[in-house]
Amino acid sequence: MKFKIKPLAALMTVLASLTMISCSKQYTFVKSPDGNISLRFATNDEGKPLYSVEYKGQMLVVPSELGLELYGAPALSGGFSVKNVLKNTFDETWEMPWGEQRKVRNYHNEMTVVLREKSDPHREMHLIFRAYNDGVAFRYHIPHMAGSDSLFVAEEHSHFRLAGDHTCWWVPGDWDINEHLYNKTLFSQIDAISKRNHPNLAQTYIPHNAVNTPITMRTAEGLHLSFHEAGLMDYAAMTLEVKPEDQSMKTILVGSENRPYKVSHALPFSSPWRMIQISPDAAGLIASRLILNLNEPNQLGDVSWVKPTKYVGIWWEMHLGKSEWSYSRTAGGPPHGRHGATTKNAKHYIDFAASNNIGALLIEGWNTGWENWIGTANREGIFDFVTPYPDFDMAEVVRYAQEKGVQLIMHHETSAAVSTYEKQIDTAFRLMEHFGYQMLKTGYVGTIIPKGEYHHNQRMIRHYVNVLKKAAMHKVAVNSHESMMPTGLRRTLPNDISCENLRGQEFNAWASDGGNPPSHLPTIAFTRMLAGPIDYTPGIFNIKFNEYKPNNQVNTTMAQQLALYVVIYSPIQMAADLPEHYEGHPAFQFIRDVGVDWEQSLVLNGEVGEFVTIARQERGSGNWFLGSITNEEARQLSINTSFLEPGNKWQAIIYADGPNAHWNDNPTSIVIDTLEVDNSSTITLDLKPGGGAAISFKPI
Ligand code: NOJ
Ligand code: CA
Repeated sequence: MKFKIKPLAALMTVLASLTMISCSKQYTFVKSPDGNISLRFATNDEGKPLYSVEYKGQMLVVPSELGLELYGAPALSGGFSVKNVLKNTFDETWEMPWGEQRKVRNYHNEMTVVLREKSDPHREMHLIFRAYNDGVAFRYHIPHMAGSDSLFVAEEHSHFRLAGDHTCWWVPGDWDINEHLYNKTLFSQIDAISKRNHPNLAQTYIPHNAVNTPITMRTAEGLHLSFHEAGLMDYAAMTLEVKPEDQSMKTILVGSENRPYKVSHALPFSSPWRMIQISPDAAGLIASRLILNLNEPNQLGDVSWVKPTKYVGIWWEMHLGKSEWSYSRTAGGPPHGRHGATTKNAKHYIDFAASNNIGALLIEGWNTGWENWIGTANREGIFDFVTPYPDFDMAEVVRYAQEKGVQLIMHHETSAAVSTYEKQIDTAFRLMEHFGYQMLKTGYVGTIIPKGEYHHNQRMIRHYVNVLKKAAMHKVAVNSHESMMPTGLRRTLPNDISCENLRGQEFNAWASDGGNPPSHLPTIAFTRMLAGPIDYTPGIFNIKFNEYKPNNQVNTTMAQQLALYVVIYSPIQMAADLPEHYEGHPAFQFIRDVGVDWEQSLVLNGEVGEFVTIARQERGSGNWFLGSITNEEARQLSINTSFLEPGNKWQAIIYADGPNAHWNDNPTSIVIDTLEVDNSSTITLDLKPGGGAAISFKPI
C-alpha cells in the first residue's frame, strides 16, 4: 500500500492587526469572527479577573474567576489592574499531514489582557482569550518576573459558572485512567464519587466530585458544549471539580504524592488552553477542529514516514484467551505451549495482512517479562523491550514481513514501571531502528512507578511527550494506551498517531460488568472523540465468541463493527478479530476497501449517546465511505448523497443490519446490497438495535 503525504504546505492568508486599548478601561470583550460568540473580561472590586461567554446574546458562562495558586509565593488571583489589552485577528488555512480532512481553517480573534498587581511586587499575569466560530479558549501566560526564574503552581482556579442545569455526558475524575463508561445526568445530578466503577487496572479515588474532560453538555435550548484542554505538553492534566449547588466547575490539576506543588515551570511560561466547544447541534462538535487550531504547528517537518494504515494483531487472541502473552508460567521456566507471539503465528498474520490490503501487524507478547507483568508489587525491571522469547525469531519475522510488504508494529508494555522504561528506552529505540520498525504501541497498565506519581500528572505528561519526541528522532509513530487524554498534540507532533484512553473493545473480551453497552460508541463520538484519534480496535465478526468466553460478548451488530471504521476516527485502524473469523466472510470486503486517511469528513447527523452518521472521502482515491451507528434503539435515517461529486455515477455497496438483526439476539445478521447512485440519491438506513450501516462508494 502506498500513501502520499504532502509536506505541510501552508498558509493562505494571515491577517494580523494589533490594536491597543486604553489602559484605564476595565471591561473588554472579544467576539468570534461570525459575531455569534462573545467573551467578556473584567476585573471586580478586589481586582480578581472574571470572564463570561455568550452565544447569540444568550449567557453560557456567567462571570467566572480565573487565578493561579502558587507554592512558595502569593497567589496570582486578585489585586490586579488591567495594564493593557491587545487584540489580534488571525486567519490561516493549514494542511494536515494526515487526518479527518486535508485543509483546516484557523480563523479567530484573540485578546490578551495584561494584568499587573496594584501593590508590591507588581507581578504580571497575561490572560489570552480566543473566540472562534466553534468555541472559545483561554490560557495563562506568566512573563519573566524579577527575582525568580521559575514558577510552582499549587493549583489552578479556573472557574466555569454555567447558566443552566444542562444535560451532561461525563466520566468520573480519575488521575490514572480514562477507561470509564460515560454517565448521562443533569449537571445538578453529577455524582462522580459513586460512579467510579472500574474494577480493572489502576484508578485513583480522588476525594472531589470531579470529572475528567472532555465533558459534553446540551442546554435546554439544544446548544451543545464540550469542555476540554488543548496543547498539554508540560503541565498537569486538568480535572474539573463539579459544584452542583452553585452550577459551577473549577479546575483541579492532577498532582503527585512526591511534591507539594502540581506544576513547575521555568519562566516565562504559558499554560495549556482551556477550551469550550460551542455548537448549535451535536454534529458540529465532531466537525470542529478547534482543539487542533489551538495547538502549535508541526515541529517535526517532513513526516511522510508517519503512515496511516490498517493493521491486524497478535492481540485479540490473547484477550479472548486463545493464546497468552507469556511464554511460561514462571519467568525463565519451560514453555506452557500457549504463547501467541511465535514466529510461525506472526507469519500466518503477515500472510493474512498481505493478501487483504492490510498494511501492518502488531505483535504483543514478543518480549520477556509477561510472566510477572500484572499484579506484581515490584514491576521494576520486569520488561526489557529487547529480549524476544525463544520461539520468536525477530530477524526472521522482520525479513518475512518486508518480503510481503507488511509493516511491523512494535509493542512496549511498560506495566507503568516508567523508571524502568526510561532507563531502557534508548536501547529499545535502537533495536527498532535496526529492524526498521516505524510504529510503536505503548502501554501503561498499573499504578505508576515511581510510587506516588499518577498517569495524568506533569511528571507523566512530560514522559509521554518525551517518548513522542524520542520516537520522532527515530522516525517512529506512537499509539499509546493508558496514557493521557489527547489534547491536539498530533498537530505539533504528527507522530502522535493514535491513542486509547477510553474503554476500548478489549473490555468486551473480559470486563465483568457486561462490556461496553450499545450506547457507548454513540456517546464516545461526541465526548472522547473530540479529544483526538481513538485506537478502539473495531471489526469483531465473531460477536459472541462463546467458544472462548461464554460470559462475554461484543454488544453491537456486525454491521456496526464495520461502520466504526468510518465513525470512530483513527489513522490506524485495526482489523481486530482473528483471521479465521474473517476468512471467506463477504462482509470482510468492507474492511479491505475502507480508507484510513481522509480528504474531507462530513458529520451528516447525530445526537449524543443515540446515533451518528459520518461520511469521509479517502485521500488519493477520492472514494467515499459512510458509517452510521445507533444505540439500543432501532431507527431509520435518510441519507442524502449530495456529498458525492456531481456528474458521476457511483457504485454503493451497503453493509446493513439484517431484517431481524439485534445486538444481543441476532448480531451477525448482515445484508450486503449494491446500488447505483449519484449525488441526488437518497439512501434509507435501517439501523437495528445496537446496529449500524457501512457504505463504500466508488465512481463507476
Ligand atoms: C492494555 C491495552 O489497552 C491492550 O491493548 C493491551 O493488549 C494490554 N494492555 C497488554 O499490553
Ligand atoms: Ca487499555
